[in-house]
Amino acid sequence: MFLFILAAALLPAALSAPLADCDVLTRQVQIQGRDQFLGVWTYVAESTNMPGSKTLTKMFVDNVWGKIYPANESDSFFVFQVQKMLGRCFSVTSKLTLVNNTLHMEYPISATEVLMTTSCPDCILLLSNYTLGESTYMGMQLLTRRPKVTSAEMDEFKRQAACLNLPSPTVLDSDKGFCTDSSASKDSETVDLTSAISQTDPEYMKILDKMLSSQSGIKMIMDSISN
Ligand SMILES: *[C@@H]1O[C@H](CO)[C@@H](O)[C@H](O)[C@H]1NC(C)=O
Ligand SMILES: *[C@@H]1O[C@H](CO)[C@@H](O)[C@H](O)[C@H]1NC(C)=O
Ligand SMILES: *[C@@H]1O[C@H](CO)[C@@H](O)[C@H](O)[C@H]1NC(C)=O
Repeated sequence: MFLFILAAALLPAALSAPLADCDVLTRQVQIQGRDQFLGVWTYVAESTNMPGSKTLTKMFVDNVWGKIYPANESDSFFVFQVQKMLGRCFSVTSKLTLVNNTLHMEYPISATEVLMTTSCPDCILLLSNYTLGESTYMGMQLLTRRPKVTSAEMDEFKRQAACLNLPSPTVLDSDKGFCTDSSASKDSETVDLTSAISQTDPEYMKILDKMLSSQSGIKMIMDSISN
């Protein structure tokens, strides 16, 4: 009884304590230039308010790595991202352009991204707005040069997501082994989804967006991927 009352008295302080750091944790940082993005990255975790995304990512995505290389224009680069899903490999290439401290994704989907502060020394933390159908969602992704981050670094990312009212992050599994670099070898079994996504009928994106906002829609997506 006494312990409970004591705990109850401390609860408001405990609840608000992490939020006290939010100003610091959600600070946007200046992008130095294209070079800081170039090279190979592991996508370690993601948090997004797109409904269904967490469930679907947890269920189907083992891990993701990416290779960023320069485009012809001095302020643009390509992101070649390889996802391992249900043990199979899929790639997608997107192009981003840096304008006014903001990255603009032109394809396969429309998005804007800024860099957020992180205490992880070899990470970048991206905060994005992206459009699916008629909805705009917010997402945050943590990328590192290592296969995984420390638990303290993951903990910071979780607090940052909470500060932005985003769901708790989905953590990817680097222990499952990454897909190989299909851009380097021709005999790879990686399926490139870039043009399929770019050429998707906008009407279908609207339907997909609607499906994601209901439990029955998410179940239909899960069933169709599983088959
Ligand atoms: C980049 O520039 C080279 C040389 O000017 C050209 O051959 C190539 O087609 C360009 N690539 C793109 C994607 O525009
Ligand atoms: C970049 O920011 C400056 C200053 O805020 C503004 O004047 C300019 O129009 C912006 N450029 C673009 C391409 O948005
Ligand atoms: C996302 O959109 C909101 C609202 O329009 C805006 O305030 C914010 O700066 C945008 N963030 C990014 C990363 O584009």
